[in-house]
Amino acid sequence: PRAARVKIGHLKLHRGSRVRVFGWIHRLRVQSQMTFITLRDGTGYLQVVLKGDLVKTLDALDLVTECSIEATGDLLQLPKGKTAPGGHELVADWWRMIGRAPTGVDTYASLFNAKSDLSVRQTLRHLDLRAETPAAIITIRAAVLSAFRAMYAKHTVIEVTPPCIVQTSVEGGSSLFKFDYYGQEAYLTQSSQLYLETCLPSLGDVFCVQESFRAENSHTRRHLAEYTHLETELAFIDFRDLLEHIETVICGVVDMVLADPIAGKFVQQLNPGFQAPTRPFKRLDYKDAIAFLNEHDIMLQEEDPTLPARSHRIGDDIAEAAERKMTDMMGVPIFLMNFPKRLKAFYMKGIAGDEEYTESVDLLMPNVGEIAGGSMRITDVDELMEGYRRDGIPEEPYHWYTDQRKYGTSEHGGYGLGVERFLAWFLNRWTVRECQLYGRWPGHAAP
Ligand code: 4AD
Ligand code: MG
Repeated sequence: PRAARVKIGHLKLHRGSRVRVFGWIHRLRVQSQMTFITLRDGTGYLQVVLKGDLVKTLDALDLVTECSIEATGDLLQLPKGKTAPGGHELVADWWRMIGRAPTGVDTYASLFNAKSDLSVRQTLRHLDLRAETPAAIITIRAAVLSAFRAMYAKHTVIEVTPPCIVQTSVEGGSSLFKFDYYGQEAYLTQSSQLYLETCLPSLGDVFCVQESFRAENSHTRRHLAEYTHLETELAFIDFRDLLEHIETVICGVVDMVLADPIAGKFVQQLNPGFQAPTRPFKRLDYKDAIAFLNEHDIMLQEEDPTLPARSHRIGDDIAEAAERKMTDMMGVPIFLMNFPKRLKAFYMKGIAGDEEYTESVDLLMPNVGEIAGGSMRITDVDELMEGYRRDGIPEEPYHWYTDQRKYGTSEHGGYGLGVERFLAWFLNRWTVRECQLYGRWPGHAAP
């Protein structure tokens, strides 16, 4: 009888039966009478044993890693003392070659290995994706996005899909990718926040998972030209509600992924020391952060590199290196709050009675620094006009955003989280570049 086709990840339910599997050869060990294959199909790894006549064919001579094959046979539990993925092996009674792979000087195994320079692997990303660590990261990424969606469903936050092609900026004109749009100027979106805000009166609380684009020429461990931006906007809340919402969602997502049998195990493999954060997160006022930096001699380097480093003053932006040093010293998630208005975007709400500062927050994580940024938004039309003026933003293209304050304004706030930065923290990766399917950073857009 024709054996049932089973994905490798589902084999456990089929032990003792004859099954049919498809996959790619991940590893190969050839002995005189037997060949041991580790087969991979994305859902797991399986040991396939070929012996007898099955290794005496011409095709068998061409077996190398990355060939694709089909095999049938009995799925047997391994005897005590033997190990293989899943605790079982397929003893093949038939197999066929589907797609050969190079056997000469350009075998897959010769292209790169664990010690190869990252840039080699990045150029060969389409093949590097087949290796265990990249595949595990992308698998966890999928579980993380599912977990965020599950958390939002639990809190009745609806998913929307705002456009990528826009004609307004959110985070300042200097990092916009501009292009010609039927004779008009348009941009690739930096943030879907303004669009999310327009959804509140229609749908209530909303979120999106959307690509954002930043034309910053920043060659750092955590800057991408295109990244996956998870953004959320919540109506009729105050700043405290916003902070509590963020920590609830982050902790919920981490717990959910750790409890997932596949993704949870991958997290343990990639980041064995990981400890789930606990609520409440540490709250740190911007002014106290400046004091901390100065107490610990963490200096500010002026943009002009010929100037000597100096200590931080109130009003200074906290640069990436200083932020990371501080976060690593504290060693826990930090809500860095209440930034000066002049450092932040036009839409951020001032603190009542302390208008030079804003109800704003960055979530900082060890090893990465900022993984999310959010704020309460200005609710008053006149205050918003003042915000436009301060940032030199023309009112006209933003008329639709202004309308939100005219037609039933509400106290509201939200945040944006960089999915790759979340993963770099969660999986202890050196750079966010490892956390995208195909990385996009200054100068790099292929494959
Ligand atoms: O701090 P940002 O610029 O804030 C906003 O865009 C707000 N409009 C979000 C909102 O309130 N809805 O970006 C938010 C997050 C950052 O904290 C960071 O994690 C990520 O997006 N991010 C980047 N990730 C990778 N590469 C870049 N160049 C990034 N720029 C921002
Ligand atoms: Mg930010």
